[in-house]
Amino acid sequence: MSILTVNQLSKTYYPKKDGLAYRALHDFDLRVEEGEFVGVMGPSGSGKTTLLNMLATIDKPTAGEMILNGKNPLDLSPNKLALFRRRELGFVFQDFNLLDTLNVRENILLPLALDTLSLKEMEKRLMQLAKQLNIVDILDKRISEISGGQQQRTACARAFIHEPAMVLADEPTGNLDSKAARQVLDTLSSMNEERGATILMVTHDPTAASFCDRVVFIKDGTFFSEIRKGDKRQVFYQNILDTLSILGGDFHESPHPRA
Ligand SMILES: Nc1ncnc2c1ncn2[C@@H]1O[C@H](COP(=O)(O)OP(=O)(O)OP(=O)(O)O)[C@@H](O)[C@H]1O
Ligand SMILES: [Mg+2]
Repeated sequence: MSILTVNQLSKTYYPKKDGLAYRALHDFDLRVEEGEFVGVMGPSGSGKTTLLNMLATIDKPTAGEMILNGKNPLDLSPNKLALFRRRELGFVFQDFNLLDTLNVRENILLPLALDTLSLKEMEKRLMQLAKQLNIVDILDKRISEISGGQQQRTACARAFIHEPAMVLADEPTGNLDSKAARQVLDTLSSMNEERGATILMVTHDPTAASFCDRVVFIKDGTFFSEIRKGDKRQVFYQNILDTLSILGGDFHESPHPRA
């Protein structure tokens, strides 16, 4: 079943005063199946964040439509849209976006705050995730007391705890050293493989992209190509590198896979 269907999605930015309108995304099609882990890559300025912001329902397309988990967020009233975003989506950002005034446990439980789950169920979900992500020992620590990698794993737990239809990640390893990045990628992979979570991840990093089932490439605001992982991650990684070199543009490539 498709969790996400995007048809002919387009976004033009209109300047507030004089100036040229800018077509950041146009006629973009995408389907994401339930349980898929999809990477999105493309040169700087190609429209990746524009796409993600529309999928996140933070920004509205100028044309086209998107259906997420059977619903079109553009049809919803502002209140219903806020609920939709909270229930159906989880987010992992490059700069973690955790609340410093709360501890790790409180940050993770945040998406459940307005729900009517029993305390027992909340605790059960929390402990399952914390064990899987190896953050049991830091649950009572403040955000300022934990490392970047621990912060991003905390953010991952927060993104998955309410079992959203899809998790959106924008450069989740962008601010991490290679060891911490690897742990976050292993976390996302295990969420995908063991829990069947559907994930869409924007990344510049071919190693990170090689953890996905499929990578979609964007160029100049529209679909360029896609490749799927076969049996070997190393071959997939090489295919990703080859496509990036055909694409050209500005990338922050790492010379060797971290595997
Ligand atoms: N609010 C805005 N108003 C006008 N133009 C914008 C706006 N946001 C983005 N753009 C332009 O749209 C294009 C796509 O931007 P976007 O942020 O989606 O690129 P990106 O693929 O995420 O790039 P990067 O890899 O550098 O993050 C860029 O040329 C950018 O300058
Ligand atoms: Mg971007």
